[in-house]
Order: sequence, then C-alpha cells, then structure tokens
Amino acid sequence: MSHFAAVVGVPGDPILGLLDAYRADPNPAKLDLGVGVYKDASGLTPIPRAVKLAERRLVDGETTKTYIGGHGAPEFGERLQQLVLGADSTLLRDGLAGATQTPGGTGALRLAGEFIARNLPGRGIWLSDPTWPIHEPLFAACGLRVEHYPYVGADNRLDVDAMLDALQRVPAGDVVLLHACCHNPTGFDLAPRDWKRVLEVVKARELLPLLDFAYQGFGDGLVEDAWAVRLFAAELPELLITSSCSKNFGLYRERTGALLLRAESSAKLADVRSQLALLARGLWSTPPSHGAAVVAEILGDAELRALWSAELDDMRRRVANLRSGLVEALRPHGLTERFAHVAQQRGMFSYTGLTAAQVARLRDEFSVYLVGSGRASVAGMSEERLDYLAGAIARVCE
Ligand SMILES: Cc1ncc(COP(=O)(O)O)c(C=O)c1O
Repeated sequence: MSHFAAVVGVPGDPILGLLDAYRADPNPAKLDLGVGVYKDASGLTPIPRAVKLAERRLVDGETTKTYIGGHGAPEFGERLQQLVLGADSTLLRDGLAGATQTPGGTGALRLAGEFIARNLPGRGIWLSDPTWPIHEPLFAACGLRVEHYPYVGADNRLDVDAMLDALQRVPAGDVVLLHACCHNPTGFDLAPRDWKRVLEVVKARELLPLLDFAYQGFGDGLVEDAWAVRLFAAELPELLITSSCSKNFGLYRERTGALLLRAESSAKLADVRSQLALLARGLWSTPPSHGAAVVAEILGDAELRALWSAELDDMRRRVANLRSGLVEALRPHGLTERFAHVAQQRGMFSYTGLTAAQVARLRDEFSVYLVGSGRASVAGMSEERLDYLAGAIARVCE
C-alpha cells in the first residue's frame, strides 16, 4: 500500500512563482515589483545597522540557549507593547494589556485564529476584499468561518461607505480584521475620520477587532501609524493586535512578532493569556528567541533605538519618493492624473489599477514583474529605472 498515493499536488505560491520567472529572465532591464520585501537602491533587502550592532552585543553577552517562556521574553513583550500602544499607555500602567511573542506576524495571526476558534465558538472573521492572500487560508485552517467586506471598488478607489454598510450587517460578536496601516495589497489606508466611523460600527455591532499591524513605521511614522491602534485600544474594552517586526526591523527570516491583547480587567487578561500559552504550546511550543532579543536590545537602548528609527525613516522616505517619482515620470506620457493615487497610497504596496492583461504585457514585453491583480511592490523600483517603468506602463495603457 502507498500511504501517499491519494495525496494530490497543489499549485505553489503565485508570488514566489513570479520570482522564479524573474530570476530566469535574461533581460538586464528586468524589474521585480512582485515580492513584498523592502529593497534599497541597489536592490538588496538590507539588515539595518542597528540590528547588526544589537546582534554583536547579543553574541558576546548570551550565556544560555535554554528555552524562553511560552509568552516569550518579557522585556521584548514590554518594549514592543510600548512601541505599539505608546510608552505612556494607561493600559500598560493598569495591567490591562499583554503580549505573547510569536514567530512573526503570521504566527500572531495563527495564534489569534486558534484562540477565536477554540474560545469564542461560532464567531466568523471578516476580511477586507482584497486582503493579504495568506489571511484567508490561515483563518480557514483554524476552522473559522471566513467572510469578506468590500474595501476597494472596481474603480480602484477605497470605498468606505460600502465597507461600513457591510460591517453594519456583520453578526454581533464576529471578528473584523483591519489593517492598522499600509494596507496589503492595495496601499489604500483609512483616514482618521474613516477609522472613527468604523469604530462606531464596531461598538454598535459589538464586533471584536483584530488589528493586523505589519508595517509600523512604513506609512507616516512610528507614532503616526499607531494612531488607529491606540484609538481602538483606548475606546474598546477588548481588542486583538498582531504586530510584526519583519519589515520595520528588517528581521524577516528571524520570525519575530507578537499577539497583543487588551482585556477588560487584569483578571480576564490573565485568563486569556493562559489560553494563549496553551495554544502556543501546541503550535510551536516556545517562540524563537533571536529576533525578539534583537528588538528588545534596540528598543531598550537609546542610541540603538535612535539609529534604528532613523534607518526606518530612510526606508519610509525612499518608498514615498519612489511613489511620487513614478507619478512624475508618468507626466510626459499624460498619465499623472490617472496614477495620482500611487503617491497617495501608503506602505510597501500599490494597487496600480493596471489590468491582468496589462500586467501580462509588462512582463512579456518589458520584463517588469508584478502580481496579476496589478499590485506593485513599490520598494522594488529604483530612481534610475522610473523612466523605463513609466515608459512601459504608458505603452501598455495606450
Ligand atoms: C498584512 C500582513 N500581515 C502580516 C504579515 C506577516 O508578516 P511576517 O509573518 O513575515 O511577520 C504580512 C507580511 O507580509 C502582511 O503583509
């Protein structure tokens, strides 16, 4: 008997498939706007200097490799919560918030999904349409009912009214996932007045928000990007936040993140945390240590923190300049208006509004690789190549 005879293959991740095609393309003019990682002007995903310095200290100072606890390193949890909720957060002072260290933001999402599935039976989870492609299979794998609310309309604009209209009809108690900033894949973020309207619906419908915070510092700044998270944490008695250190600390492969939790009382916080520790034990036992130790070291040291924050500012500015640079480069082609949204969007990604057919032509005729939905990873562009890219876009838009 063959044990594996009935196992069928499934297609690989389409974005990674795109990367393979890019690598195999011999055209020296090729551009990779597919994969969602930050790249510097030389096309490298750099290790921030602050990270390197912290790592050196850790290598010298580390005395043991024994397990860290189920919730991870306490100093990581405390400092990350201060970064997310604010150093002066009354929730932290009053013991109403906690952090569980996870393998990346994805681990935090999985832990949140398992917690909801096991401890809040019958709840569905509502995702924006579109959303990060991993959200749906991840929550489905937890056994959750996965639903969608509209976010970007067919005209490639944020449709807040449609979103609110849908949220008003969500069954009371369901979970609504919101991208805290730098929406992936669209780059369209809610304005403060929109967040307030969403908050009102969340309160009225008694929904539980799960704020996915994977790009703190990539939108408008570390504090600015936390605005909605802090508003929700101040206004709601219960909240889940998934925080990722992959992009803002450049720690992608070190799998560093946390599930943050705001509860109504410190006794309830302890109850929920005990459930999270139990679930984490069955998922990954204890979290990986290195990335979190790096983050704790940086956030706990004024000099390293200042260096990291300046490096993050540079990354954010580079992406913002590429956005406005592309719109400018499209000016001679008469396309500035049509692509003005690219400069207004935030974070690593842009829903360009290019159709699947135009994306295919960009790839086949110009070796410019982006995802079929028209999502471009802006950090994959470079200043010197903007004219080439603008020319290619103009040709496929003729
Ligand atoms: C919206 C969103 N959430 C979560 C993540 C998780 O990132 P990681 O698991 O690498 O920390 C990502 C990464 O691309 C993301 O875009």
